[in-house]
Amino acid sequence: MPTGKYMAFQTYANQIGETPEPIHVSEYRQRQEKLYSQLDDNSALILCSPKEKIRSNDVHFPYRTNSDLLYLTGWKDPDCVLLAIKKDNVWTTTLFVQESNIELEIWEGRRPGVEGAKKNWAIDEAYPSESISKILSERLKSVSIVYHCVGFNIKVDNLVENSINSRNRARQQIGEGPTQRIDPSLLISEMRLIKSDAEINLMRYSANISSIAHIEAMKNCFTGIGEWQIQAIIEGYFKFLGAKNWAYPSIVGCGENATILHYHENNKICNDGEIILIDAGSEYEGYAADITRSWPINGKFSDSQMKIYNLVLKSQRAAIQKCVVGNQYIEAHIAASKVLAEGLVELGIIHCSAEEALENGELKKYFMHGTGHWLGLDVHDVGIYKPNGEPRVFEPGMVITIEPGLYFGDWRSDLTDLDPKWAGIGIRIEDDILITENGPEVLSSLCPKDIHELESLIGQSN
Ligand code: GLY
Ligand code: MN
Ligand code: MN
Repeated sequence: MPTGKYMAFQTYANQIGETPEPIHVSEYRQRQEKLYSQLDDNSALILCSPKEKIRSNDVHFPYRTNSDLLYLTGWKDPDCVLLAIKKDNVWTTTLFVQESNIELEIWEGRRPGVEGAKKNWAIDEAYPSESISKILSERLKSVSIVYHCVGFNIKVDNLVENSINSRNRARQQIGEGPTQRIDPSLLISEMRLIKSDAEINLMRYSANISSIAHIEAMKNCFTGIGEWQIQAIIEGYFKFLGAKNWAYPSIVGCGENATILHYHENNKICNDGEIILIDAGSEYEGYAADITRSWPINGKFSDSQMKIYNLVLKSQRAAIQKCVVGNQYIEAHIAASKVLAEGLVELGIIHCSAEEALENGELKKYFMHGTGHWLGLDVHDVGIYKPNGEPRVFEPGMVITIEPGLYFGDWRSDLTDLDPKWAGIGIRIEDDILITENGPEVLSSLCPKDIHELESLIGQSN
């Protein structure tokens, strides 16, 4: 019978729910079909994985492939190229992958290889990465358009450019080869913006893992703990609960560090009376969670901290209510800003009217970022915010973060007249919201945010 931490794991396993199914091969096929159906006939689509990056000498940074390639194939390893050729409205999907190599696999780990790719991935054929130049240059001769996003693989970029240039020369002779390159990423972004049921399950799971990690940070913290130690608890729980990585470097800032939006040094001791702001989310099967919570390290909100916290929470709730089908995404920001401006006027922090503060930059002194962004395979996910210049209208399946905040950094030269009672307070509250026909679903709802819940959790495990 498991005991100790393993018991805790069992409890958490019950809370985060059943491990979701990975994306099925048939869904990758559907995604490919949907994309291909929008492309011109007689064309090629090419997507390349980025190169591995050296961190130092023999050590590489952890590898994460291009999200578009992941979205269309699920292939996670480096040295991969997807080539799809559309002829007479029939598509062939080819994947170039690292070949099996027993010597290298003994050192670096198992590879699916060409045979594994053919057997288990949503593709028609596979070849070793080394054969890309020969096969690509041959196949490009017979298409007119190449859909290709440059910048991931210089060898392929050159091949595409050469094939277009040499086509110009060969046209008079044989009339073959591509004449133009089009970036396919906008088309893929539109698809990625609307999440499928399988994607939503993965995102909910990632949000649940992240929520538990935040709760563990609350329970295990104490005055005098280091920011890096809280980071270790959070990221340890990501892994403990099955997420291989974070979706972005964790922001763990106490005191005045909570007033720096993307603080990442995480190297200060947390002192009595300070607010800790933690913005941390896991990546599960490629899908990001993005959660921020802010709370007092000593477990008790001071009067000023409570006033600012409740104001941010009120603005966040007002914004979440706007996350409904048919609303423009910007309505959430407008609602949050209005609540914050009115609250700051009431607290005597802003000395003009709320309407003026929204226009003249006064509110931006304390709330200087947007209220949210799309979330998915990337933490700042793809999708045009203002197609044709008009703010996007919410549709079911979109996922957006809602993350208003107020920051009173007394180190700032533009805030020298700040009343000391607000000095050093930084509060952001961030949740991940799924747009549904039945209203907003807070994917990160497992993570507490009411003051009384936070106060009863902070330091509870000590
Ligand atoms: N974690 C980065 C952001 O909230 O945008
Ligand atoms: Mn965010
Ligand atoms: Mn965040």
